[in-house]
Amino acid sequence: MPVLREALLRVSRSGALKSVITRAPITKGVVERYVAGETTEDALRVTRTLADANLTVTIDHLGEDTTKVAQATATTEAYLELLARLSDAGLADIAEVSVKLSAIGQQLGAEGESIATENARLICAAAAEAGTTVTIDMEDHTTTDSTLFVVRALRRDYPWVGAVLQAYLFRTEDDCRELATEGSRIRLCKGAYAEPDSVAYADAAEVDKAYVRCLKILMAGAGYPMVATHDPRLVEIAVALAEREQRAKDTFELQMLYGIRPSEQARLAKLGHTVRVYVPYGTDWYGYLVRRLAEKPANMRFFAHSLVSRS
Ligand code: FDA
Repeated sequence: MPVLREALLRVSRSGALKSVITRAPITKGVVERYVAGETTEDALRVTRTLADANLTVTIDHLGEDTTKVAQATATTEAYLELLARLSDAGLADIAEVSVKLSAIGQQLGAEGESIATENARLICAAAAEAGTTVTIDMEDHTTTDSTLFVVRALRRDYPWVGAVLQAYLFRTEDDCRELATEGSRIRLCKGAYAEPDSVAYADAAEVDKAYVRCLKILMAGAGYPMVATHDPRLVEIAVALAEREQRAKDTFELQMLYGIRPSEQARLAKLGHTVRVYVPYGTDWYGYLVRRLAEKPANMRFFAHSLVSRS
């Protein structure tokens, strides 16, 4: 991982940078590029627009690293409201939700995993009622075992729960093999956190090679691969592998983030692929925004500008 990107991701958790970035005058425009808005209504409005463009959606209520039970409960309730509204609006067939376990209690000490599991169950029950699905996002490597454990527990009642695997982790090829079972929805992404060299590839080319190895396993397996990347080469390889495995277009999907390469999203949908856009909304956008900014070297100028104009 490039030094600047890694430094930024690490310092982003310190709190000091947070107050600089969130108060910087030019932040609003940048947030608007990547985030649908602050309210459920904003998420529904953007979902409708994407649906009209023949895209499908997964909606993330922003928030992570929750330190209070009440906050975990409030986030869970926000998802329940969102799912009911999606159903009422007739959007549940094209829009599902993505959930970070740390937003619904995973980090709340010894009880954290079971609190998150219970909250995730409530969200899954609401999704089932609405007629849609849930994907559990993957966070930093210290949470991978716990998150996959929770996914397995949820899948006993809700087999459609999606898992996320990060190609940059050394362990992920094995996880792909284990999870590529009948009907298993698996989102493959590169990985967005600052990870130590002991667990993850640091070099971008190595991450890309690992991504392709994982894609080969998932496309050859019996699951439903969800190819989450904006990298044109990897999208091309994913489609070629699907063709090689004689997969029909409805047995895998392509996923991208809201605000990133929208014309490519439209082009791929026009070719008949299922393209799902990850749409975040809510007030707690800081952690999400920093990861997006760290992904693109040109975005570093934004940080420099924020720091210079902090007064
Ligand atoms: P890469 O970063 O190499 O980007 C390829 C190209 O895409 C760039 O050259 C640029 O053109 C464009 N691009 C990428 N990011 C951009 C940005 N921020 N702004 C502008 N242009 C950009 N991660 C994780 O750890 N856990 C998770 O649960 C998820 N979930 C998830 C869902 C979905 C639907 C997607 C698309 C991604 C994730 N991610 C994630 C994030 C993922 O791990 C990764 O950090 C980003 O997708 C960026 O990596 P790319 O694969 O796009 O490649």
